[in-house]
Order: sequence, then C-alpha cells, then structure tokens
Amino acid sequence: MIEVLRHDIVIVGGGGAGLRAAIAAVEADPAVSVGLVSKVYPMRSHTVSAEGGAAAVAREDDNFEMHGYDTVKGSDFLGDQDVIQYFVQEAPKELARLEHWGCPWSRNEDGTVATRAFGGMSTKRTWYAADKVGFHMLHALFQHSMQFDQIVRYDEQFVTKLLVDDGVVRGVASLDIREGVVRVILGRAVILATGGAGKIFPFTTNGTIKTGDGMSLAYRAGVPLKDMEFVQYHPTGLPGTGILITEATRGEGGHLKNSKGERFLVDYDYGVGNKAELGPRDMISRAIVQEVEAGRGIQGTYGEYVHLDLTHLGADKINQRLPMVRELAKIYIGVDPVTDPIPVRPVVHYMMGGVDTNIEAETALPGLYAAGECASASLNGANRLGSNSLTECLVFGASAGRNAVAFAKGSSEGNQAALTGQGEEEAARVDALRGRQKGGEKLSHIRQALNATMETGCGVYREQASMDDTVRTVAALKGRYADIGLQDSSKVFNTELIAAMELGAMLDVAEAVAVSAAGRNESRGAHTRKDSTARDDVNYLHHTLCHFDPAGPRLGKKDVTLGKWEPVERKY
Ligand code: FUM
Repeated sequence: MIEVLRHDIVIVGGGGAGLRAAIAAVEADPAVSVGLVSKVYPMRSHTVSAEGGAAAVAREDDNFEMHGYDTVKGSDFLGDQDVIQYFVQEAPKELARLEHWGCPWSRNEDGTVATRAFGGMSTKRTWYAADKVGFHMLHALFQHSMQFDQIVRYDEQFVTKLLVDDGVVRGVASLDIREGVVRVILGRAVILATGGAGKIFPFTTNGTIKTGDGMSLAYRAGVPLKDMEFVQYHPTGLPGTGILITEATRGEGGHLKNSKGERFLVDYDYGVGNKAELGPRDMISRAIVQEVEAGRGIQGTYGEYVHLDLTHLGADKINQRLPMVRELAKIYIGVDPVTDPIPVRPVVHYMMGGVDTNIEAETALPGLYAAGECASASLNGANRLGSNSLTECLVFGASAGRNAVAFAKGSSEGNQAALTGQGEEEAARVDALRGRQKGGEKLSHIRQALNATMETGCGVYREQASMDDTVRTVAALKGRYADIGLQDSSKVFNTELIAAMELGAMLDVAEAVAVSAAGRNESRGAHTRKDSTARDDVNYLHHTLCHFDPAGPRLGKKDVTLGKWEPVERKY
C-alpha cells in the first residue's frame, strides 16, 4: 500500500519562487500546512547561482513608469502590460521585505540601498549584494522559512506526476531519491516552482538540475506551455563550462572587445544604440555572433569568443563589487580580470516561456499555480531584461502562495481512492523503469543528440529549414527514448533513474521550444530568424501556446494584454 501524506498546499521546488510561495502561504493563513517538495536541498537550488542583482525602483530618478516601459520594450512588446505594471509596483516591497529577512543589500555611502546599471534599463535599478545575489537572497528566504513549523520539507524528492481528480489538481506522486520509494503527497492546491530547462542546450549557465521537470508535469497534465520559442542567450559565459560571468561586469563599466581590441558595440550599429555594453541581452548576443562571423572573434579550444575587459576598473572595484567574477575567472579559465580580459561567448541562460499562467499565477488547471522561471506569466515576453527574474520569483512566488491558499479553502480533498490509485500506478511505472535492462538506447546518446539539435535549430539565429529539422529530430528522439535501457536497479540514490526521468522532461520541453519556434515566422526579441528578419505585429503580436498531445504537440495562440504603451520599433 502506497504511503499517503497530506497538506493543504503542495509546492514543488525549493528555490527562490518556491520558498517565497511557502512563506506567503503560511503568512496568509497560519493554520495552513505546506508540503515543500524539492529535488535538491533548497540551498542547492539554482537560485543560489544568480550573481548580478534584482531589479526594483529605488532611486529618486526612477519610477514605476520607467521600469514598466523598459520591461515592455525589452520584451519586444510581447509582455502583458497588466502583469508588468503589477510587477514593478510589487518589486520594491519584495526587495525591502527580503532585507528585513536578512538579505544584505550593498549600500551607498549615505546608507541608502546601492543600485547598479543593467542591460536595457534606463537607470541604475538593480539591487545587489556584491555579485553573490542569489546566494544571499536564497539564504534569507531559506532561513526565514525555517521559523514556520507549518512548512514541512521533503528534500531530495523527485515529483513524477500531478494527481488530478475531477478536473482539479489534488497532489503529486513523488519519488524519495534517498529511499527509492514513491509516495502520494496530497494538497488542495499545488504550486510549481521548479525553474527552467537550460540543460536541453549543450552550452548553458544552468546547473545540472535545470531539466524542465515542472514544465513537463504541467504540459502532460493538459496545461499549455507558453512562448517557448523565446530562449535567452546571456552574452557572457565562460567558454567550455558555460559558467555565468555576470552582466554586472558591464554594469560596473566593463567593455566587450573583439580580436582587434575594438569595443565593437560602440563602433557598429547592432541595435544597441548608445547603450553599447548596456544594451539588452538578445541584441548583444547577436552582435557577438556577428562579430565572430565577420572574422573578428578569438580562436580558443572551445570555439571562438570575444573579450570582456575589466582591467580599467582596477583591483579595488573588482574586489569590492565583483569578487566572485574574479574568483570564477581565475579558477575556471586561469585569467585574473584585474590584469587580463576574460574570454566570453553567448550561452543559454533563461527560458522566457513556461507554464502558461495569468497575473494571479494561476494555470488553466484548477488548483495548479506556477511561479518563477518554470512559469510564463508574460512578464518577459520575447526577451527578459537582466535582473527582472529574481524579483519575479519573489513577486509571483508570493502571489502564487496567497492565491493557492484562497483556492484551497474552497476546494475539497477529492476522491481519495482514485488519487491513491493514481499514485500506485505511478509507483509501478517508476519501478518498471528502474534498472530496466531491455531497451537498446543509451540515455547519454539521446541527451547528446538532443543538445546538438537544439543548438543547431534553436540557437541565437534561426531558419525555417533547421527549425523544422530540429522538430523532426526531437520527435525521433522521443521515439528512441521509449526504448531506453538502464543498468542500475538499486533504490538508494539511483541517479540513473533520475537522469532518465529528467531526460523525459527535457524531451517534452525541447519539443515545445522547437515546434513553437518553427511556427513563428517573424523575428522578435530572442527569436531571431535569418530568413524572416522583421517583426510582424499584424500576424504575430500574440503569445504561442503549445499543448501536449500524444499524437504530437498542437499550437494555439493567446492575446497579448496591451495597454498604454503602443508597440513601436524597438530601438535603443
Ligand atoms: O548577469 C547576471 O547577473 C544575470 C542576471 C539575470 O539573469 O537576471
């Protein structure tokens, strides 16, 4: 008989959005019990690796109108303006609240919160704690969450299925990685906060755990994935590892240079206008690719790159504002940025798309909420501005927590026998997968082929033929995945089994990215086509919805919520 655990709210994911949701839920109603289920110990969530900062209006020369319009323009007018206005108003409250919970924001001389410049922002709006922002934010959230006995943690648990009864989500089936046992964890509302899916690409800033698990759970439960074609390349990752070198380097005055030592973003028109290194990420990533294609890249072991030059900033500023960058560059590439430029290249960083939610973090499946990178509330549209996403985790994590509590109050527990039965079926499926020897396909081969085709078809620049090829290749890989063979039949920390289930999720997410990309015949934000270079507001000023169907994904549309900011040409 399967073990059944019960809470009012089940949260999947223990990073920034999940912890914020848990705290908001118990603050909304102290009688509520929250089950916080996380694939890793919460302090190992990918939020911890965020570096440069979190955006919110703080300065006298700033206001909500400016933050709002920067975000709308950054999104290439595909962001929903009601969501953006709500976000910018909530942002300063959330960041101040985090300080009260212990986040040590860096200060100006006069004691006010320090802010730095970030790409595409019209003023210094990014709050920071040196360049270890994710670490400090996650610590503050985690420590604050520990005071609430109502938050019960299930660390190192892999959620394999959403349990739905009578059209309402009522819990999850979850594999305890330490024991190899599947349990049912019931809740009257479920929040997904599982992060992104950068690992579908070969070269990414994302940690190994970012395999799109939550997106796949929702997709398979009938919730569409929205705007998946928009994949953000961060302009500055280390060649080889993909480790992030924060945009704060450019915010603090760093320069990008080509093989001739030229600051190419200043000399040529790549769309970044006079913002140069402080242009938005999609444009700077394209500029680097163009520079390399024009023969002005620098050849290295892992392909061509450009230089990020911080030498003129001086040791004091680098040590004070960018200590982790110095440490990372020294350890991982053998370069001390005080004396030498850092080799960098564009690298997959963030998915603008995700589980389709509305402004309340609600999905189309009653009882299911989503927040953070796994969700698409349409804050980011076709291109996210750097430093908006940490704040997004807080703003929409909090609203997911509050709204889930309100929903749970009016929701029944559902048919317990049916839900337990689903859990037992899921346990049998996982048991059958563990160590199943019969398949002829290796996980590593499928994963490598998936990574390769995603880069070829859905990279910085795209074309119809290669996107169509990627759609076909991903479909074929899904066929091969049905025949995987696994060697490890042990129960305790069976990482091969987890890798197999993660690969299943990655294939779902990759399918949605490729199919959505192939269906958008225009260039907008991070979706840049060589064979269709203009933005087409007549035919494509809409969100893409990608629905799961066993016969193959189906595409649909959703209106963009416009408002006072009319779409115009996006220029900097
Ligand atoms: O460059 C960075 O520090 C990344 C920030 C972000 O993605 O928001």
